[in-house]
Amino acid sequence: MGIVTLKRDVAAVRESCRIVRKVLTELAQFIEPGVTTAEIDVLGRKVLKAEGAVPSFLNYHGYPAAVCVSINHEVVHGIPSADRVVKDGDIVSIDVGAYKDGFHGDAADTVMVGSVSQLSRKLVEVTYEARNLGIAAAVSGNHVGDIGHAVQTYVEANGFSVVYRLVGHGIGKNLHEKPKVPNYGKAGKGMRLSDGLLLAIEPMVNGGAAEVRFLKDGWTVVTGDGTLSAHAENTIMVNGSRPEVLTA
Ligand code: MF3
Ligand code: CO
Repeated sequence: MGIVTLKRDVAAVRESCRIVRKVLTELAQFIEPGVTTAEIDVLGRKVLKAEGAVPSFLNYHGYPAAVCVSINHEVVHGIPSADRVVKDGDIVSIDVGAYKDGFHGDAADTVMVGSVSQLSRKLVEVTYEARNLGIAAAVSGNHVGDIGHAVQTYVEANGFSVVYRLVGHGIGKNLHEKPKVPNYGKAGKGMRLSDGLLLAIEPMVNGGAAEVRFLKDGWTVVTGDGTLSAHAENTIMVNGSRPEVLTA
C-alpha cells in the first residue's frame, strides 16, 4: 500500500507527480491534426529524461512505450504508432507515469483536437468533473467506495457509463499498489482512507455501454460498442479533509 509519512518520501512523490504534469502539459500543447501517436511518445520520453525521470510504463509487463495514447473509441492503453495520425475532431487521451527517487506519479488527460462534436465535449467535461468529484471524496475517514460512488453517480446522471473492467489504484514505490480504486461503488464500503495514502483516481467514461474489448496487440482497450470514451487521472495524497492533488 502506498502510504507516505516521511518528509523525504512526500517530497519525492511530489517531484515525480510534478514531472508527470509537466509532460502532460507539453504533450497537450504538441497535439494537433497531423501528429502521430509515436511522435507524442517520443516527446514524452524526451521530457521525462530531461527531468531526470524514468518512464513508469515502459517495459511494465512488457508495455512498449512511455506514454499511452488512446483516441476516440479507445478507452486506455493505446500503443503509440508511427501509422496512427491525430485528426481534427478527435479526443485523445494521454496517460503518463514518471519514476524518480523511488516513487511513481501517474496521470492522464483527454485532449480535444480542433473542432470536436458536442457529444465529445460533454463526454470529456463529464470525465474531468467525475475525476474532481472522486478526488473530493478521498478524505480521511471515508472509504474507497465513496470515491467510486461519487464518480459513478455523476457519470450515470449525465447519461454515460463507467468502465467496470479497469480501475484506479494505490501508487507509491510501485506503479500499482493496493487498494484498487473502482469507478463504481457503494458509499461507506471498502478500505478506510487515512492520511498519507497515495491514490491514482482515474475515471474511464464511455459514451455508450460500459463493456470493453481488449485488442490483439495485448494492450489497447476499446469500447465494446464502438462509441467514444474519455479518461482523466490524477495522483493524490489523502490529507485530512483536503486531498493534495499531486499531479495538478
Ligand atoms: N495509468 C495506467 C494505469 O495505471 C497506465 C498503465 S499503462 C502500463 O494502469 F503500460 F503501464 F500498464
Ligand atoms: Co493509473
